[in-house]
Order: sequence, then structure tokens, then C-alpha cells
Amino acid sequence: MGINVKDWLNGEAEVFLKDIGIKKGDVVLDFGCGTGSYTIPAAEVVNKEGKVYAMDKDIKSINKLMKIAKTKDLKNIIPLHTKSEELKINLESESIDAVLLYDVLHYIGALERKMIYEEIYRILKENGLLSVYPKHHKSDEPLGNLSDMELDDVEEEIKSHYFYLQRKFYKKLLHNGDYNRGYILNFRKKLGGNKY
Ligand SMILES: C[S@@+](CC[C@H](N)C(=O)[O-])C[C@H]1O[C@@H](n2cnc3c(N)ncnc32)[C@H](O)[C@@H]1O
Repeated sequence: MGINVKDWLNGEAEVFLKDIGIKKGDVVLDFGCGTGSYTIPAAEVVNKEGKVYAMDKDIKSINKLMKIAKTKDLKNIIPLHTKSEELKINLESESIDAVLLYDVLHYIGALERKMIYEEIYRILKENGLLSVYPKHHKSDEPLGNLSDMELDDVEEEIKSHYFYLQRKFYKKLLHNGDYNRGYILNFRKKLGGNKY
């Protein structure tokens, strides 16, 4: 993370996360956490009363994140190293208040995305939040599995998995360690849609 973005970890990110709906005491899953641009501030926001699961298939990123957590004396981050082919999330059903899915979807093929939405639905509490930053869709530096999808297509895909769109933000945020602007889609579980 460059010196020009030091304000991100010194308060800006916490404001961002509170704005999208993360609260003190929440249990959060940061799916595809990388080195923790969102995990670390989320751990500060949820405070000692809450916790953040830091999930990634890349063990080096998780190790780096945990080192940063140690320097900040954050004890409420739980590393979850996963294999990308394992589409199960190793967490209890209805145990999570919020899932962050930030700048990850372009890594994942359509069939796997479907399984992941189903798993996220399973682990979220009844009014749980799924917050998505779908970077790299057709109109935002297209890349990988999202390069042929518009933002609306991503929205429709997630809605078809028993979520409804609660709010859409266009925000200053961090992407690959630098400031950027992008859309955040906030979804909630549809009541009564528990088919999984
Ligand atoms: C571009 S980084 C984004 C990191 C972080 N979410 C952020 O916005 O700063 C994407 C991360 O997702 C992880 N990832 C991709 N596919 C994954 C999968 N199927 N399961 C777990 N992690 C995955 C990658 O290893 C990488 O660390």
C-alpha cells in the first residue's frame, strides 16, 4: 500500500465500511481478503465484540494480513485458508452478519460463482448483508470472468440467487493498493427464500 493511501487505514476505510453497513459487534466474512485492505479496518469497526474471518486461497496474502493484524494488536481476525476448488465455506449456517466480496468475482467462473452465492446465502443470518465490489466488469477495466458482463448483469446474477438489492453506492475506495472509484452493490437475503 503506497504512502498516498495511508489515510485509508487511518480512518477513511472505517468510515467507508460503516457507511456500507458494517457495525460494532458484527461477525464478518471477507471472501478473497487478499492482504487485508478491507479486513483490517473491518476488524477495527466490529471491535472486540465482533470478529472478521479472513478467507483467501493465497496463503502468502493471509500470512501478510495476519502480520499487519499483529502490529495493530488486532485479535479478532480469524484466518481461513481455502482451496479455490473447495466451494464450501467452512462456517456455520446463519452465523455471519456481513460478507464482503470485493474485487474477487472476476477470478471465478459462472458455475463456481453460483455455488459461492449459495454458500454465502447459507452462512448469512436472516437479514445478513452481502456487499459486492464487482471490479473488472465490461465497463470498468474488463478482466477475467467478468469481462463480458455489465454491472447490471452481475446485479441480476446475484438477485437470481435469493438476494435483493438494497442499495447501490458509487464510492471512493481502494483497489490494488491505490485509490479508485467504483460501484458497491449491497444485497440482503430474501425473506422466505431459503431453498438451499
Ligand atoms: C484482487 S484481490 C482482492 C483483495 C481484497 N478483497 C481487496 O479488495 O483488496 C482478489 C483475492 O481473491 C482471492 N481469491 C480469488 N478466488 C478465490 C476463491 N475461489 N477463494 C478464495 N479466494 C479467492 C485471490 O487469491 C486474491 O487474494
